[in-house]
Amino acid sequence: MNPSPTSERKFSRTLVTSALPYANGEIHLGHLAGAYLPADIYVRYLRLRGEDVLYICGTDEYGVPITLTAERQGISPKELVDRNHASIRKSFADFGMSFDNFSQTSRPIHTETSQAFFTDLHSQGVFRQKTTEQFYSPSQQRFLADRYIEGTCPRCNAEGARGDQCEKCGSSLDPTELIEPRNAQDGSPLELRETTHWFLPLGDFQDRLIAMIDAHPEWKDNVKQYCRGWFKDGLEDRAVTRDLGWGVQVPLPDHDGKVFYVWFEAPIGYISSTREWAAAQGDPEQWRKWWQDPETRLVHFIGKDNVFFHAVMFPAMLMAHSENYVLADNVPANEFLNLEGQKLSTSRGFAVWLPEYLEKFQADPLRYTLARNLPETRDMNFTWEGFQARNNNELGNNFGNLINRIFTFVHKYFDGVVPEWSEAMMTDLDRQALAEVEADLQEWARRLGTFDVKAAVEAAFHAGQVGNRYFDESAPFKTRKTDLERCGHSLGVSLQIIRMLAVMLAPVVPFAMEKLWNWLGMETALWRGGWNEGCRPIPPGRKLGTPEILFPRLDDEVIQPEVERLKKLLEG
Ligand code: 2FM
Ligand code: ZN
Repeated sequence: MNPSPTSERKFSRTLVTSALPYANGEIHLGHLAGAYLPADIYVRYLRLRGEDVLYICGTDEYGVPITLTAERQGISPKELVDRNHASIRKSFADFGMSFDNFSQTSRPIHTETSQAFFTDLHSQGVFRQKTTEQFYSPSQQRFLADRYIEGTCPRCNAEGARGDQCEKCGSSLDPTELIEPRNAQDGSPLELRETTHWFLPLGDFQDRLIAMIDAHPEWKDNVKQYCRGWFKDGLEDRAVTRDLGWGVQVPLPDHDGKVFYVWFEAPIGYISSTREWAAAQGDPEQWRKWWQDPETRLVHFIGKDNVFFHAVMFPAMLMAHSENYVLADNVPANEFLNLEGQKLSTSRGFAVWLPEYLEKFQADPLRYTLARNLPETRDMNFTWEGFQARNNNELGNNFGNLINRIFTFVHKYFDGVVPEWSEAMMTDLDRQALAEVEADLQEWARRLGTFDVKAAVEAAFHAGQVGNRYFDESAPFKTRKTDLERCGHSLGVSLQIIRMLAVMLAPVVPFAMEKLWNWLGMETALWRGGWNEGCRPIPPGRKLGTPEILFPRLDDEVIQPEVERLKKLLEG
C-alpha cells in the first residue's frame, strides 16, 4: 500500500503548511476544524509512518484590521501582534499542534524573504505598473482599504454599503461606485487621489494554472470547482502593493510608504518560516530542499475562503520566480464549522475560543469531537452536548473503558504481563475480530492518505466497537474461573486490538495515546515510524504499564454553563 497516495507520484518528503492565522485575535473552533486539526492529524500520520515531513506555520501579522485593533488598544501594531502571537503559539501547543516551526510575518527573515521574492519578479519584468485613483482620507492622512469606505449602494440604495460589498443586496462593489463615499470609521469625506501600484498579471499564468489543476483530478471537488469558475471568468491583474504604513516595505527607491499587499507576502511566509527552521537546524540552505527539489510534495491545508490564494495566486507567484519552486501537490480546503446550528460570529463573540476552552477542558476530547465532525465536504456543526456525548460515549465508553478493563484484568490476574496467546489457540471468534480490526487499520491508513480524516476516525471508532464486542463475547470475566489459559489467550488477543487502536487514535488524541503507547511497552518512538511496531504482534511475557483513566467523563454541570453562555449571546 502506498502510505500517502495524494497523487500517483512518489515523493521523498512532504512539506505541510496550515494557513497562517491572523495575529488579530485568538484561535477559535472554526479555525481548528478548517486548517489546523486535519493538518496536524495528517502530519502525525506521516510521522507515524516514518516519512520525512516538515510542518510549517506562523502568524500573519500585517494588514489594516491589525492596525485598527492596535489603535483601539492604544498600542503599536508590533506590540499587538507579538502579544497575540505568543498567545496563539501557547494555545496551539496546548492543543497538541505539532508544528516544526511557527514563525511571524513581522520578523526580519520574512521581510528579507518577501522583498527578495518581489525583487526577483520585478527584475524579470513580471509586474505591471499602473496608476489608478483611490480614495484618500484627509482626516486620517491615508489611503483607505475598500472595506473601510462606506456609502450608499448603487444597486439597492441601502445606506452603509461597504466599498467592497453591499451586505444588504450582496453585490460586490468597487468603492468608486458608492454614492456619497465616506470614511467608515469617522464618517469624514474622502478625496480620489492618484497612486501607482504593481500588479501581478495572473492572466499570463492562466494556461499553466489550468494545466496544474488538470494534473490533479484527485483534488477536492470544491477546490477544482472554484478554480474552474475563476478560469472561466478569466484571471485579472492583482495589485501586490498597497499604500499603508504597516506591512513589508516595497524594496524600490522612492517608494517609501508603500507596502506589500498581505496576500502577496503572507504565503511567502511559508517559505520564510521554513528558512527560519533551517537556520535553527544549523543548515540555513536546507530550506531549498523543501521548496525547490521536485522530490518534495507540498500540501496546503486551508479553509475554503483561502482557495484563490493557494490554488491560483501563490502558485502563479512561484511559477513566476526565476528559480524552480515546487507547486502544491494538494490543497485540501475545508468548508466551515457552525456552532449550535448558527454561523460563528467573532464580532458578536459567538464562538468558542481555544484558550478559554483549554482553561476548562483537555485537548484530546475537542480534537476527537472536531475530527468526527470535520467540515470536509460540507459545513458541519459543533454543539456542546454533542461534544459531551462524543467524550462520554465514544472516548470514554468505546475506547477508554475497553482499554481500562483489559489492562486492569491483566494486572489483576496475570501480574501485568502479556499472557500466553498463540496462533495454535485461535478460535474463529479471535480470528474474525483480529481480521476486522486489521481491515479497519488498512482503511484508516488509506483514508488518511487521501485526507479523508473523518472517515479514518470512523474506521478507528469501528475498531473500538469490534474490540468491545470481542471482549464481551470472549468473556475473560467468565473464563477466568473456568479456563485460565483461554482467559489469558483472549486477553492477549484483546491487547493486539488495543495496539492497533493506539496507532489509529494516536494522531487524533495524541496526549492519551502517547501514554497508552508507553503502557504497552512499545520501543519505537511513536512519531518516528511507530507504525511498523504498531503492526507487529505484542509477544507474551512483556510487562505492561499501569493505566489510569484516559478520558474522564464530562458531567452536565461543566457542559451546561457553556450551552447557556452561547444561548445568551444568541438571544442578546
Ligand atoms: O485567512 C486567514 O486567516 C489568513 N491569515 C491566511 C493566510 S494563509 C497564508 F497565505 F499565509
Ligand atoms: Zn446593495
